[in-house]
Amino acid sequence: MNVLMVSPGFPAEMSFFTRGLAAVGATVIGLGDQPASALPATAREALAHHVHVESLADEAAVLHTAHELSRHVRIDQIECLWEPYMMLAARLREEFGLPGLNRAQTEPFRDKELMKTVLDRAGLRTPRHESTGTVAGVWAAAERIGFPLIVKPIDGAGSADTYRVDSVGELNDVLPMLRHVRRVSVEEFIEAEEFTYDTVCADGQILFENICWYRPRPLQAHSHEWISPITIALRDLSVPDLAGGRALGAAVIDALGFRDGFTHMEWYNKADGEVVFGEIGARPPGGRTVDLMNYVTDADLFTGWAEAVVDGRISQKLDRRYNAASIFKRAIGSGCITRHDGLDRLLSECGGSVAALDLLPVGAHRRDWRATLISDGMIIIREYELSRTIDVADRFASELQLYAG
Ligand SMILES: Nc1ncnc2c1ncn2[C@@H]1O[C@H](COP(=O)(O)OP(=O)(O)O)[C@@H](O)[C@H]1O
Ligand SMILES: [Mg+2]
Repeated sequence: MNVLMVSPGFPAEMSFFTRGLAAVGATVIGLGDQPASALPATAREALAHHVHVESLADEAAVLHTAHELSRHVRIDQIECLWEPYMMLAARLREEFGLPGLNRAQTEPFRDKELMKTVLDRAGLRTPRHESTGTVAGVWAAAERIGFPLIVKPIDGAGSADTYRVDSVGELNDVLPMLRHVRRVSVEEFIEAEEFTYDTVCADGQILFENICWYRPRPLQAHSHEWISPITIALRDLSVPDLAGGRALGAAVIDALGFRDGFTHMEWYNKADGEVVFGEIGARPPGGRTVDLMNYVTDADLFTGWAEAVVDGRISQKLDRRYNAASIFKRAIGSGCITRHDGLDRLLSECGGSVAALDLLPVGAHRRDWRATLISDGMIIIREYELSRTIDVADRFASELQLYAG
């Protein structure tokens, strides 16, 4: 089985999926904008061959290169787990008549308005929504939907250009900041706790499910630098509180006709028990969340995914043994990290709960916290009991402080 992997080494965790494909016996051919020499060793060692293109955004050139390649080697399958190039991968599948998502099937995963329209038709609960490309259109949608509302790009990511708007005055303030966005969704604001519903599927069957609880909600985490965002992958998915989200998730996958690979959905759990769809991607979650799944199960979901898309099954045991929480830290100050306050005490008092610790060292330059969830470092906590997981994660969020200067 020859699998063409688009962008096999970027972002960094793509390497592990690439390695997974090789581990389940596929012959993996890379296609990406990094030269082979710039690929992470994990990806490079897993590839039988790598095709370097100038830019993945130049679709015509990529198609030409892929045709050249196909004259020398048979391509059986095309995989791409990186959101910006999902459409490119779909186009390539159509070009070569290969199974997997085509462009029409990919579109509802990319365009948040179309996504919700398809789900509305299937009778699933989405926030009331409208999409528009004009200022007048936003005002008209606001009139119909009412405050509070959300305005966001139809194809956004990472809460970028996303605003909660509570009044006419706030809408006036927000509109100029959206001038560069071509089309927006205007949505009813859903006051709720926010969760993920992630799966690995094969032949339309859900082989693996995962649910994460975001603390706080991503838009809040994205809006305030002082917050240390926490994501908790939950051990016990059988609790009544999660039943509505799981049922919604399975229905969404069905309605979108998704068959093979990773999905990453976000959903809202309201205080009155109502569950509301947020968004879905035909890809794994980012922000080290696949690592969290691995800490939950003591398995390797990178290879699990690969086996699912190549052989239609996952043979590893995937029991949920622990809760696993990631905490992302943002330093105070700009420039280079000068110290880590509170780390020694936390490690002596709850070091047994720490599964991974990956903080920028003193002297390293700060990362851009708005552009990358990882920010200035990450801790992963793993515990059997949820209450203990929350306690320890909260302590790392509030008592560990990185400084820069
Ligand atoms: N209708 C909504 N009601 C409440 N919060 C929302 C709504 N839409 C978006 N948000 C907030 O904004 C965040 C980002 O929006 P989302 O649609 O997930 O886009 P992306 O994650 O691709 O940027 C969500 O995680 C949520 O916190
Ligand atoms: Mg989101």
